[in-house]
Amino acid sequence: MNTKTDSPMRDLLILLSMTFALGLVAVSSASHAQIGFPGEEQEAAASDGELDQSLEGTIERGKLVYDSKCTFCHRADGMGVPGAFPPLVVGAKFDADPKIVDPLVALGLYKDGAMTAGTVDVQIDVVLNGITGTRMFAFKEQISTQEVADVVTYIRNAWGNDSGELVKPEQVEAVATN
Ligand code: HEC
Repeated sequence: MNTKTDSPMRDLLILLSMTFALGLVAVSSASHAQIGFPGEEQEAAASDGELDQSLEGTIERGKLVYDSKCTFCHRADGMGVPGAFPPLVVGAKFDADPKIVDPLVALGLYKDGAMTAGTVDVQIDVVLNGITGTRMFAFKEQISTQEVADVVTYIRNAWGNDSGELVKPEQVEAVATN
């Protein structure tokens, strides 16, 4: 009978193969984490607080938001659509129905037939809450506080707009809670 001498060896083999299997699991989950699912990386970056907070980095992120959410109406060059969607380029001429123009005048974003810079807070508010009674709708349910900061930074520094202003998420939060 050799079962007595056999079984410690078998135990050892089982132990070794289990260790090996665990090792495989560890390796495969590590490589999975490295590859990541789409969107995972961005979330991780945001929660790590590792976002590039420089003006250039913020403008770059803001362009991505703008290109996916705003170009349909305001166009890639920020010039909008005559009579319908206003340019975001400061100084650009715009002519439209009073229904469209009057709210812009009231917000300090339009004067004497042309777009004006307005203030950061007003533009943050417009992006968060839209402009009532117009086709500019509220984005606060669609994009994050950080993305509002990024896109407002972008529109104030693109197409020759050169405010040099860097909008922080804290400023967006302040406008949102006012
Ligand atoms: C469905 C079309 C539409 C989309 C999409 C849209 N807008 Fe607008 N936006 C408008 C219209 C129309 C107005 C003018 C509203 C009025 O008549 O007062 C406007 C006005 C604005 C204004 C005020 C004008 C100014 O020069 O400051 C800002 C700022 C603005 N939009 C930013 C954005 C941003 C940023 C996005 C993307 C996150 C966006 N809009 C997406 C239609 C749109």
